[in-house]
Amino acid sequence: MYFRHLKLKNWRNFVNVDLTIGERLFITGPNASGKSNLLDVFRFLRDIAKTGGGLQQAVRERGDLSKIRCLAARRYPNVEIEVTLTENGLADATEWRYGIGLHQESRGARRLLLRYEKIWRNNELILNRPDDDDRKDDWRLTETHLEHLQSNINFRPIDEAFKQISYLHLVPQLLRHPNIANRDAVGEDPFGLKFLDRVISTPEKTRRARLHKIEEALRIAVPELKNLTDTPDERGMPHLEAIYEHWRPNAGRQREDQFSDGTLRLIGLLWMLLEGAGLLLLEEPELSLHSAVVSKLPALIWRLQRPRKRQVILSSHSTELFGVRGIRPEEVALLKPHGSEGTVVSLASDKEEIRLLLEGGMTIADAVLPLTAPSNVDQLDLFK
Ligand SMILES: Nc1ncnc2c1ncn2[C@@H]1O[C@H](COP(=O)(O)OP(=O)(O)OP(=O)(O)O)[C@@H](O)[C@H]1O
Ligand SMILES: [Mg+2]
Repeated sequence: MYFRHLKLKNWRNFVNVDLTIGERLFITGPNASGKSNLLDVFRFLRDIAKTGGGLQQAVRERGDLSKIRCLAARRYPNVEIEVTLTENGLADATEWRYGIGLHQESRGARRLLLRYEKIWRNNELILNRPDDDDRKDDWRLTETHLEHLQSNINFRPIDEAFKQISYLHLVPQLLRHPNIANRDAVGEDPFGLKFLDRVISTPEKTRRARLHKIEEALRIAVPELKNLTDTPDERGMPHLEAIYEHWRPNAGRQREDQFSDGTLRLIGLLWMLLEGAGLLLLEEPELSLHSAVVSKLPALIWRLQRPRKRQVILSSHSTELFGVRGIRPEEVALLKPHGSEGTVVSLASDKEEIRLLLEGGMTIADAVLPLTAPSNVDQLDLFK
């Protein structure tokens, strides 16, 4: 399934979002413009649907609704999310639409309640809450129907698409030094603390095939690295190992704690593209990578996502990444903060001036990135 459209009201620093999404979407904008917040909407939907998750927990993991609700919003309106999905590649595919409105009671138990939960299948409304049961017992509005297997039978494809959403923002230092963080505290492991457990728990044949594929790509970025494989240590802890050629005649074996940041980031990125089936969220995939490698990332990601029918949404401010010619303006979401009005999201293709620059031969890096630089960035030079 592909996410085709996203509508938001009062989500974090967005008062209003109305965004069409293709097979891939590149989100760009200044620091603190909401790129991570926009990715977080999809993680929120996954957190509602995931086994052992649910609406209350998804909100609790983000503090409470007052942290999620946009500060720029007037008074205490609903936080609203609506996504449209279709099966990929089918001309007559079913179109699904899922929408929720959330609010928090202002007094008493201050319960977080659904203002509504609605589902449409091909524009036919098949779930419309609150229903009579909800009106009889409003505690039911603390939970979505989506999070219950008994009640989501008529819209399982949405549930599955949400469950498949994956996100990894691998922090090499965490992977290298797992003892500096509490391994038990990280539920979803967004930063790759348990990345090696993930690799090792994959059935052997698949695991070896994936590592082999990753090694092939790595051979281009890090030519000295060969024979990437997994191996347990004396205590049975999983490790990645590779042969690292250097100036001495005998190449040495290295474990992941000796791999470079860029190597680990690239391994994480490639693994995520090869694993799973649904929407993949990538946060600044350019981090730690050489600019020459970054400029190849869009093509690399595309080649891996396409045959697997995966959708990718990534955030970036990399000149090298956006310097690639193949990125179309419909694939670029531009975030522009408007002070107390919150951030406005538009596609680069919606802007006439950008379209003209692109037609004139400019890349997204030339035509769009300058718009995302802070207006008084030159003052940083003068900072004392
Ligand atoms: N409920 C909210 N209402 C308004 N603004 C919010 C809310 N929650 C977070 N923000 C603001 O959102 C901004 C952070 O957004 P986010 O982390 O998504 O930025 P980003 O574009 O990913 O930045 P970077 O490039 O630095 O990673 C912060 O300025 C924060 O104050
Ligand atoms: Mg961010």
